[in-house]
Amino acid sequence: MAIPQSFIEELKSRVEIEDLIGGYVKLRRQGSNLTGLCPFHSEKSPSFTVFVGSQSYYCFGCHAGGDAINFVRAVEHLDYVDAVKFLADRVGMTVPQEEGARENAAQRADILELNKTAARWFHEQLRKTPQAVRYLSGRGLSEKTILHFGLGYAPEGWDNLLRHLEQKGYTKPDVKRAGLAAVNQGGRYYDYFRGRIMFPIIDVRGNVVGFGGRVLDDSKPKYLNSPDTPVFKKSRSLFSLCNAKGTREGQLILAEGYLDVISLYQAGFAQAVATLGTALTSEQARLMNRYAKEVVIAYDMDEAGRRATQRASELLTAAGLKVRVLRLDGAKDPDEYLRTHGPERLRAQLSRTEGYVEYRLSQAAVGLDLQDAAGKVSYLKEAAAILSQLDSPVERDVYAGRVAAQLGVEKDNLLTEANRLRKSDRKKAQQQDIVQQQRLLRSGVGRVDPDRARHLRASRAEEGILCLLYDHPDYYDELSKELSPDDFVTPFHRRVLVSMANAIEMGERPDLSGFREFSIEEIGVIQGILLRRERFSGTREELRELMETLQQERRRGAALQHGMDDEELRRYLQSMGQRK
Ligand code: CTP
Ligand code: MN
Repeated sequence: MAIPQSFIEELKSRVEIEDLIGGYVKLRRQGSNLTGLCPFHSEKSPSFTVFVGSQSYYCFGCHAGGDAINFVRAVEHLDYVDAVKFLADRVGMTVPQEEGARENAAQRADILELNKTAARWFHEQLRKTPQAVRYLSGRGLSEKTILHFGLGYAPEGWDNLLRHLEQKGYTKPDVKRAGLAAVNQGGRYYDYFRGRIMFPIIDVRGNVVGFGGRVLDDSKPKYLNSPDTPVFKKSRSLFSLCNAKGTREGQLILAEGYLDVISLYQAGFAQAVATLGTALTSEQARLMNRYAKEVVIAYDMDEAGRRATQRASELLTAAGLKVRVLRLDGAKDPDEYLRTHGPERLRAQLSRTEGYVEYRLSQAAVGLDLQDAAGKVSYLKEAAAILSQLDSPVERDVYAGRVAAQLGVEKDNLLTEANRLRKSDRKKAQQQDIVQQQRLLRSGVGRVDPDRARHLRASRAEEGILCLLYDHPDYYDELSKELSPDDFVTPFHRRVLVSMANAIEMGERPDLSGFREFSIEEIGVIQGILLRRERFSGTREELRELMETLQQERRRGAALQHGMDDEELRRYLQSMGQRK
């Protein structure tokens, strides 16, 4: 049983799309609509629009579009049913249970149960393996910390965990589904983690969703993480968020590694989290935004860490978080810093964290002699570039003042230079956006509807017919007498027409939410088509004209196929026109 359309309509009437999207995108009012930077492709000038009247959105840059449900599908990477559930949760409605959904929920619960059993077993194995315990105490972890994080050990050997879980009634495919077993080419199952210290990854509800595993020596790969499973998406999880949520005035510390986080926790910094071996994603940034106002980035102090700091700070800022950067002098990462300097020094350092702008300004000065004229000039150039990237004129002014005072130069000159750079950057960015938009539109629509470009005139007529039918389902009778979906030239439009016809035949109004069998990207293209509705007056006369154009195009296509040359074709078409 599918979710009834009436439920979907009720749900959509309760969700305000501008509030929903406003939680992900900074929107600005523009006439009766809202615009912002598209969350689905990177751009510098806003081409993402939220249509308040029709409760829909469309990006004129990358043709992402649709209704609230499609937005959630796309932005949260959920399937249709889960996106509906997500929205229902938001407005306090309960989705009528579906057979498939119940099965999925049961499967997820099974995996979580299996994971918990495995975590317990890994922990027992740690107790039995002195060399693993020694490794952890060698890294400065106390008994209490080991217990708190539920650390464990996956022994050497190929099927120790598998055998244990089979004894508990699980099958080999069950274990594989949870990401704890793999299959070799001969079809044999084996333990995914072997000879590794195990770090359970626990979500905010306390479920064990996955694992990270570290070797005890220098062998490679140093870390191995569970593959993505129905309960675990690396790009959406954060290590130790269960400990960090709700600590210390909404601050989180973002570190690179499991052991950084654990050491920080042990030293009294429970607000530390880490990504799981991948670069920070915008989803993780948004997740952090739910639990904190400010994030202190505590990445490694090497070149890679610096680059990652820059990237992370952009994502975090975009998610609405305040960003600060921790400097760990004389240590490569927080773990090492704590071991050499102790928690008090770190606490002091934490209270002295620089805002991201200060951090970048001080980075810019590294290796320059500010007493020297040439050094000063290089630094000021770099500083102007940094200032030019600040959106707030107040911020630009304040930091320009600071830099100017520090170097004993005129603030106004620096500010003018920053503003000049800002203007030229903006111009460049807009030009880049336009080029990118054209490319994305071509490739996106081209992917979804590859026949459009080849049959442009017919396609346009088909799009017009779809637009008219969307607003005037009562035209369907007339239309269906003269036109069947097979008359449509492009298969994509044909599918859209069939889907709309089905809805109308069931007595429903066509609605974006009705295109359930279409992919997120396809719905974007449909939304792009439907936006052209305003160009039509919506009369029956117009519908007849469009159908006539389409028939003409079909005849022309058929004639071409029969190998007429241009002149024959021209005469043929003329004769068609006269017959009409
Ligand atoms: N990582 C990974 N796979 C690797 C290496 C690293 O997934 N092959 C991830 C792990 O989550 C790890 C983090 O990246 O915790 C940081 O890696 P790195 O800086 O190399 O390790 P450290 O945290 O310094 O690890 P350790 O202190 O255990 O040596
Ligand atoms: Mn480390």
